[in-house]
Amino acid sequence: MTARHAAEILFTARRALALTGAGVSAESGIPTFRGEGGLWKQYDPVKVASIEYFMADPSAYWTVSKERGRVALAARPNPGHHALAALEAGGRLAAVVTQNTDGLHQESGSRNVIEIHGSSRTVQCLDCASREPRADVQARLHEEMPPRCKVCGGTYLKPTVVLFGEPMPQAAITKAFALAREADVLLVVGSSLVVYPAADIPLVALRSGARMIVINAEPTPYDELAEVVIQGRSGEVLPEIVDLIGG
Ligand code: OAD
Repeated sequence: MTARHAAEILFTARRALALTGAGVSAESGIPTFRGEGGLWKQYDPVKVASIEYFMADPSAYWTVSKERGRVALAARPNPGHHALAALEAGGRLAAVVTQNTDGLHQESGSRNVIEIHGSSRTVQCLDCASREPRADVQARLHEEMPPRCKVCGGTYLKPTVVLFGEPMPQAAITKAFALAREADVLLVVGSSLVVYPAADIPLVALRSGARMIVINAEPTPYDELAEVVIQGRSGEVLPEIVDLIGG
């Protein structure tokens, strides 16, 4: 199965939807969660990325989050992000539903981006609800641990990401599933497809008649349901598809 086959499918799509995961940002230098060198090989996710852990000890949470935040803030979109933005600009892609919180799709020019796990670019005070850019909080982590809210002095500053044990952002989830039901093509990129409800999106799209393309470095549980499976790096495969389509 080839990039050419994927390009042919996308060329005729009217309502294609991309579902992306950490793999699409791997070539921007942000480690994935479960792949080789993944974050969850180093840490227990339920521990370091759960709301209980955060509430029990914000300093411990920020100690881990500090390094990932530093890497994510320095990261720039890679050719995979740019290719998805080009597909949207060329009318071949309706939207990107992403499990990523890094904001790199938007930075690369994608306009219709639905972040179902929230955004790590903003931090919110759980005491007074005020928000500030992650970059500002990140800049004072070396002198203040845990960071304090600039408005009320509270010590429960949490990135606006979904931690384990927290509810999903309902509006984003509703939108993502509506797009999945309307999609005629689902392009899955860089996700292990093991985290729910995101992993239900392929089933919903397929049930509604969508054709599925999977681009991932490793096999996924849904590969046998896909019409095209390309095992490779999204930063290489996606630009090739865009070239074949002709922009
Ligand atoms: P994972 O880390 O589970 O999966 C990333 C996938 O990308 C793996 O299957 C890799 O093989 C693949 N991959 C790595 N580099 C790639 C590349 N250059 N090109 C293409 N594929 C590549 O990440 P997600 O599926 O996004 O949730 O994980 C889902 C959720 O689990 C995350 O959003 C996060 C985590 O717990 C929350 O934080 C709520």
